[in-house]
Amino acid sequence: MSITLTIKEIQVLGYRKLQNIVLNPEFETDLLLGQVLKKGRSFLYAHPNKTIFKFQFSIFKRLLKRRQRKEPMAYILGKINFYGLDFKVTPDVLIPRPDTEILVQETLAVIRNTKYGIRSVIDIGTGSGAIAISIAKAIEKKSKIKNQKSKIFGTDISNEALKVSRINARRNKVKIKLLRGNLLDPIIEARLPHPWLITANLPYLTSSEATKSHLKYEPRLALAGGKAGLELIEKLLKQYAQIRQNGDYIILEIGYKQGRAITNLVKKYLPQAKIKIKKDYAGFDRVVEINFTARRVA
Ligand SMILES: C[S@@+](CC[C@H](N)C(=O)[O-])C[C@H]1O[C@@H](n2cnc3c(N)ncnc32)[C@H](O)[C@@H]1O
Repeated sequence: MSITLTIKEIQVLGYRKLQNIVLNPEFETDLLLGQVLKKGRSFLYAHPNKTIFKFQFSIFKRLLKRRQRKEPMAYILGKINFYGLDFKVTPDVLIPRPDTEILVQETLAVIRNTKYGIRSVIDIGTGSGAIAISIAKAIEKKSKIKNQKSKIFGTDISNEALKVSRINARRNKVKIKLLRGNLLDPIIEARLPHPWLITANLPYLTSSEATKSHLKYEPRLALAGGKAGLELIEKLLKQYAQIRQNGDYIILEIGYKQGRAITNLVKKYLPQAKIKIKKDYAGFDRVVEINFTARRVA
């Protein structure tokens, strides 16, 4: 059974409902309608007078309502593109941010350039698996990345998040090993071979930043890093200091105002380390690279 509304009329309805709520109402309406019809935007513009089924219109209205309440598009669509790959996202995981691609780029550059190799790449707090899977895919794809023997691991304290990263590893056809546990506990227990390259985009928002309304749909466990946002990063550095080995790297995503504070924490717990801070596209501190003088891996 079809109703009389055409694609064009539904688009106009969507634009009007999302106007003044989202930045790009036309684009988002098209994505929602495309999701319902399982078609791309070009189909919508090629068939403006096509009518849709009543059940499809009901689904569209439900999705539109969710967006009117400012639920992130990624949760409504159930997916997001990160580093050119398709990732499933659910409210159990943080929606990967474009800034995190900088951490992936830096990590790949280290893997490419490190003289003596990396045996274990370990993404702590992997969430959707965006970082670990993007690294695994790039290592697999690019023969010019030398250290192809690195094994990739992802850890998270949340079982629900690990379910999502497992699906994403399958979806993107990469082999990564996923471990559950607090910070470095699971990798210490698994006795992974060094040199390690640890990546981590741990929760780094302050308690008050994490309660901002635009973040209300995302898991608090993925956002809040204590009063100053640094609690988990400090715990990680302190824990790592007990097992530090030459040739290891730690690459962290940090908050835009945290460069100096993190540098001080690194100096406190890892005084032997070299530190580099990389800025994001807006010119803010975003990624910290910590490393220790390498020795040749036997
Ligand atoms: C900011 S999210 C990052 C998710 C993903 N790596 C990304 O960049 O999109 C932080 C992740 O750390 C996890 N997490 C929080 N506390 C943790 C802990 N103590 N040990 C391990 N993972 C933790 C959360 O469950 C969440 O998935």
